[in-house]
Amino acid sequence: MAEVFVFANQKGGVGKTTSTFNLGAALQDIDQRVLLVDLDPQASLTFYAGFDPESIDVTLHQCLTRDVPPKDIILSTECGMDLLPANMDLSLAELQMINLPARERRITRIVNAVRDAYDFVLLDSQPSLGILTLNALAAADQVIIPVSCEFLSLRGTRALLKLIAKVRGQLNSHLQIAGLLPTMFDSRTRHGREILQILRDQFSDLYLFPYTVNRSIRFAESSRAQLPVFEMSIQVPGALAYRELARDLVKKKERK
Ligand SMILES: Nc1ncnc2c1ncn2[C@@H]1O[C@H](COP(=O)(O)OP(=O)(O)OP(=O)(O)O)[C@@H](O)[C@H]1O
Ligand SMILES: [Mg+2]
Repeated sequence: MAEVFVFANQKGGVGKTTSTFNLGAALQDIDQRVLLVDLDPQASLTFYAGFDPESIDVTLHQCLTRDVPPKDIILSTECGMDLLPANMDLSLAELQMINLPARERRITRIVNAVRDAYDFVLLDSQPSLGILTLNALAAADQVIIPVSCEFLSLRGTRALLKLIAKVRGQLNSHLQIAGLLPTMFDSRTRHGREILQILRDQFSDLYLFPYTVNRSIRFAESSRAQLPVFEMSIQVPGALAYRELARDLVKKKERK
């Protein structure tokens, strides 16, 4: 059965979507069956995965609010992963879900309905701690927190940790924090190295993944091309971290 990971950080632009898609591609490359789930009305993941979000009629929105079975809306991407797509309609779901029963567990139900068919389910959350992110945390086994190696990006991390503690207490007692994933790291600047040290000092209770996703323009180019970064050129600095992360996650899963 699939292990479910969510990429979460309410700070925008820290690499949640980029990490979801490229980790998925790296897992797929080592023969894992991967489902990507787009939980952000911005639908960047849906676009990255090769689709035009606004031309998709039935998305996660209908699964959440009208009980459409997820298997009816899953799309196959060109690189072999599956995708539960989103589009702007998902922003309405936040309001509509307020009156639905078990509103914090809607994503859990959706994921549970399909997880048998996959090895990994990767949830991409939006940059807020609203009901969709709460749903994602309730549905996940583990959270990966991407933190971009800039000082301001560290400020929100404590608030996310508080929400995770709350979710553990009330909704999902087995939720674990897999670790902090440093993104957009620039090894040439002192600032990047300082941020890594601050992460080690301030979050000594959390696992800091031992590889950093280096800053590279190839990531932006790959999202424009709607292709995994590995397909942009043979050696992309930073992309290797996703391959290492994929291998580690598979090893850990096999040991369970
Ligand atoms: N390692 C990297 N180096 C350089 N640019 C990157 C890197 N990772 C992501 N980017 C770029 O930074 C921008 C933000 O990345 P991304 O969309 O993955 O962040 P996000 O956390 O999902 O954002 P949001 O909070 O808006 O959903 C994108 O333009 C992306 O191409
Ligand atoms: Mg995103």
